[in-house]
Amino acid sequence: MTRTAEDDIRARFAAAPWKGITAEQMAPALRVPTMLSDVEQSLYFWAARDWARGCGAIVDLGCFVGGSTARLAEGRRQAGHGARVHGFDRFTASAGLKKRLFDPAGIPPFDGRDILPLARRLLDPWSPLISLHPGEIEDNGWPGGPIELLALDASKTTGAMDRMAAHFFPNLVPAGSLVIQQDYFHWRQPWIAVQMERLAEHFVPLAACAPSTMVFLCRTPPDAGALVRAACDRLSDAELIAGLEAARARLAPFGQDHRFEKLIAAARANPGQRVAWKLKPPAR
Ligand SMILES: C[S@@+](CC[C@H](N)C(=O)[O-])C[C@H]1O[C@@H](n2cnc3c(N)ncnc32)[C@H](O)[C@@H]1O
Repeated sequence: MTRTAEDDIRARFAAAPWKGITAEQMAPALRVPTMLSDVEQSLYFWAARDWARGCGAIVDLGCFVGGSTARLAEGRRQAGHGARVHGFDRFTASAGLKKRLFDPAGIPPFDGRDILPLARRLLDPWSPLISLHPGEIEDNGWPGGPIELLALDASKTTGAMDRMAAHFFPNLVPAGSLVIQQDYFHWRQPWIAVQMERLAEHFVPLAACAPSTMVFLCRTPPDAGALVRAACDRLSDAELIAGLEAARARLAPFGQDHRFEKLIAAARANPGQRVAWKLKPPAR
């Protein structure tokens, strides 16, 4: 059988080249606090430096105080390919989150929930490369233009997830864009795997990156009609679980069966619930 370009991309991702990235290579970005795991940070940096060619924007949905954005921007800076990096978030943090993430980073305590000024300060070294978009992502939408790298970490309700997909997915580059689904394996968001399964003809699964990320190649960008058909907000629990079973079967080569079991258990334990923070953990 003839080897295709997609086969070459699959082989490139099977080798997980981001695992060879050292902390020194990402050093300036490591000063910005993040919730990403070490290997996820390397993946973001690698994707911006070594995957992206500058044929579209780099978009970070749910960037919190800019940790993921900084890893992307540093990769983009080192590659020098010209892509603009866009960070989207409502830029707020609770007192607990501030204490957990900012204290260890040596950021002095401050009043209030607004973290946009802090994000701007932390991201200042990359400011010529970055645009920040404060507010609800699904209300802000995308100003237009191709997107080469799309990282999603804000699909916390099915309704917001569907609307974000409608804004951003049609702008992906055919056979060129990566979609980094940072919460794909997070038990609080069992709907992400279902959405990607309903869009299976458009996205090729490439790699799992612990603990929660799944990376996809966009084969063809879904259009508005495909996204309406793939919407998850009105799915019944039975349809959600069927979607998870289908994703589990298709992604069997990635060895993540235990993660799918937990997603399915979480969906079963939380009938009708489609808001991440309201999900109760499934019994073991
Ligand atoms: C898990 S955190 C992201 C972590 C970040 N990527 C990092 O590197 O630390 C999820 C973020 O998504 C944001 N978020 C969730 N839903 C959102 C929405 N609908 N609109 C705007 N921001 C949202 C939250 O404010 C939060 O900062």
